[in-house]
Amino acid sequence: ARIEKAGHRHFMMKEIAEQPTVIGNVIEAHVAPDHARVDMGLPGVDFAQVNRVSIVACGTAYYAALVAKYWFERIAGLPAEVDIASEFRYRDPILPPGTLAIFVSQSGETADTLAALRYAKGKAAKVVSLVNSPESSIARESDIAVPIHAGVEVSVASTKAFTCMLTTFLTMTLRAAEDRGTMSGEEIAATIADLRSLPGLVSHALSADAAIHAVAAQLAKARDVLFLGRGQMFPLALEGALKLKEISYIHAEGYPSGELKHGPIALVDRDTPVVVLAPHDRLFDKTVSNMQEVMARGGKVLLIADNRAIAEVGNDVWTSIAMPDAPEILQPILYAVPAQLLAYHTAIAKGTDVDQPRNLAKSVTVE
Ligand code: G6P
Repeated sequence: ARIEKAGHRHFMMKEIAEQPTVIGNVIEAHVAPDHARVDMGLPGVDFAQVNRVSIVACGTAYYAALVAKYWFERIAGLPAEVDIASEFRYRDPILPPGTLAIFVSQSGETADTLAALRYAKGKAAKVVSLVNSPESSIARESDIAVPIHAGVEVSVASTKAFTCMLTTFLTMTLRAAEDRGTMSGEEIAATIADLRSLPGLVSHALSADAAIHAVAAQLAKARDVLFLGRGQMFPLALEGALKLKEISYIHAEGYPSGELKHGPIALVDRDTPVVVLAPHDRLFDKTVSNMQEVMARGGKVLLIADNRAIAEVGNDVWTSIAMPDAPEILQPILYAVPAQLLAYHTAIAKGTDVDQPRNLAKSVTVE
């Protein structure tokens, strides 16, 4: 069937808007009908027998993997390593017995990711993939291919595939927590209840569209933009910066807030917008103190945070974008939405080709 824009100006916006539905599909597919357990078909995988996960991907899928590292370690007590595929395949990585190798790819055809997968198979690791296309090479060559249920993604800049990868990783982490006994049945059921609120929260986040549209004209004038986040929000800072570069061609960098003082703070001036991702989480106070360091140097802060955070610390910032309050574990998925919208509206303000950015391909099947 031909994929249409369904009334949207660009595929990217259509795909951003589809996220409540496709995330709901992931949850439906991977949660048992009684909503008490994860049921995601990982035949032969017992996470209690796994010593380490090694996750490999490129681009946006790599940033999804970076979030998953925080989850596997914190929730399931499982050491996790994450690599960029083009680095992994050439650095002679060690895959000791008990390693579960996980490959993440929207297209399932990325040459570097496929080569990394073949390397891992050659080392006799058990290979699981998270893919959007079940017919793809990566899916076919994996021991287990877990579908991410995003549906066809046309826009070169990946949006719904990212949030579906994250949601799939979150259910996989809960399954690991169950196998390893790091969460009780009640805790798992409570987290699944939280997870089931995610499509509604993402819909709510989409209503920030008008506010983001309003600020994009200003952002479009910037030469450089910094994105800051801590902990599980750090990979979101990377993803926000990647989206902005890909489609608006504005130079952007994502940084862990705590690392600001070791270099990038030298870039801060009146003309450099600094996007701070600061939901109320366990590191909130630390993120805020990093944000204040930026403001003390005349930096223009665009704060993306929940209402409570904005009420507490949003007074002197340049501008703020409100997100709904959400359980901490869901925040990386939720905050992908304003990051996507920011890139989208900035690109529109600059007049670039949103769905077909220069020099980029949707699927990179050569090295
Ligand atoms: C290309 C796309 C990116 C994507 C990356 C990995 O660079 O432009 O959007 O994140 O490939 O693609 P994959 O299909 O493996 O997820």
